[in-house]
Amino acid sequence: MQTNTIKIFDTTLRDGEQSPGASMNTEEKIQIAAQLEKLGVDIIEAGFAAASPGDFDAIDKIAQRVSNSTVCSLARAIESDIKAAGEAIAKAKMQRIHTFIATSPIHMEYKLKMKPEEVIKRAAGAVAYARTFVDDVEFSCEDAGRSDIGFMKEIADAVIEAGATTINLPDTVGFRLPFEIGVMVKEMSDYVEGRAIISVHNHNDLGLGVANSLEAIMQGARQVECTINGLGERAGNAALEEIVMALKVRSDVFKDFDTRINTKEIYPTSRLIATITGIEPQPNKAIVGKNAFAHESGIHQDGVLKHKETYEIMKPEDIGLDQSDTLVLGKHSGRAAFKDKLAKLGFTLEEDALNRAFERFKILADRKKEIYDDDIRALVTNEMTKAEQVFEIVSLQLMDCSEGVPSAAVKIKKGNDEIIDASIGGGTIDAVFKAIDRITGFTGRLDEYRVKSVSEGKDALANVTVKVSFNDEPAVIGHGLHLDTMLASARAYIGALNSYLSMAGKLKERPKKVIL
Ligand code: KIV
Ligand code: ZN
Repeated sequence: MQTNTIKIFDTTLRDGEQSPGASMNTEEKIQIAAQLEKLGVDIIEAGFAAASPGDFDAIDKIAQRVSNSTVCSLARAIESDIKAAGEAIAKAKMQRIHTFIATSPIHMEYKLKMKPEEVIKRAAGAVAYARTFVDDVEFSCEDAGRSDIGFMKEIADAVIEAGATTINLPDTVGFRLPFEIGVMVKEMSDYVEGRAIISVHNHNDLGLGVANSLEAIMQGARQVECTINGLGERAGNAALEEIVMALKVRSDVFKDFDTRINTKEIYPTSRLIATITGIEPQPNKAIVGKNAFAHESGIHQDGVLKHKETYEIMKPEDIGLDQSDTLVLGKHSGRAAFKDKLAKLGFTLEEDALNRAFERFKILADRKKEIYDDDIRALVTNEMTKAEQVFEIVSLQLMDCSEGVPSAAVKIKKGNDEIIDASIGGGTIDAVFKAIDRITGFTGRLDEYRVKSVSEGKDALANVTVKVSFNDEPAVIGHGLHLDTMLASARAYIGALNSYLSMAGKLKERPKKVIL
């Protein structure tokens, strides 16, 4: 029997970014896209071009960077969205526009306030317009899980006629059970056979995203949409790593199916996403959780020592987790050991970047006894995803945090100048950020502040993420890494400002944020 290669459509950068707190800046998205390409995903949904100037810019840059995966932008079935999508992906070697409109009675009546006939007309028009930009157009029946199958057949006929090559059936609210998804997919894939391929996009509200995707594959879906670490709206999406490893480990059942995924890149990809978003997979998360390959009970440990397969259905090495490599770096580690560690973690840095990362490693090693893999990942990722450094924090001094008024003095470098100023605030962080505002002349509104320790120990690095809006423009993200939480916070805030400045010109050219 012929093997069917299931297309893996990764939407970490679009649906995944819709997870509360998961916003990423342009440099971070480029870094993630490059890793997804290395992982072997077929399609990277790089964002929603019309959503904001930042989204457009990131998709455009990813389009220029990625060549082995198709680069896709989401677009509502609206001309301006499709135009933005078409322009954003124009430089990609392989391009796709993904347009959608809701097809369930509840969405059509209350959200769209449109009649079913109007929805069909709008969908076909959107696809036809998208085809003026690209040959590869995907159409999604939003809320397919609660849509009438007869209506979806009608809309499928219309959009296929207009040029759609993939029909996606999202279970937008994660409502369906596996056998129900199976029935829907079987009926739809039989119906469109030879004219288009059926894709699924399963949300995880009942914890069934992966099970639903696997059943869909059994019943005829040839593309699955998923995210790394299961990120996504609300309870998230089906996790890429779980779908791919289920297909691999249970190849006895899924013998007619495979994917292009290099499973050894799963763990490095998962760590990169966790480092950048600051959202750690739960410890017991399948495949990539901290405990996924840990054996706590004595009986299990004994079994594994005698014969691994007593309690392990897959090898950590299969997902690129090398547990035998426990080398922890410290201040006596040289450049060669550092370079070797980077290679093992999947980073290839140009000479200049390597030198800068090694310098930062040495400074850290002077103050932190043991440096773990996650410290190195955070350090290098932070270095690689920095926007141009218009402003740089030189030093920070905090005053009277106990009974008096919290105040902070900050020294900032801009070009060859060093500027110092101080401010009081409602709390220490407030004082630090206000002092930065005074020096830079930009007033930021802090929308989100998160701090996470990178590895273990009292001397762990603090990884601070901020979401800041300057001049009432769409918010930008900044990350700061330091042993001192206040310095990490100051760096994160300046990082957000540098990010804002690096795209300030583009912000004026494009409309402001659109909410999906
Ligand atoms: O969940 C959903 O319906 C979506 C669509 C936009 C594909 O994310
Ligand atoms: Zn979704």
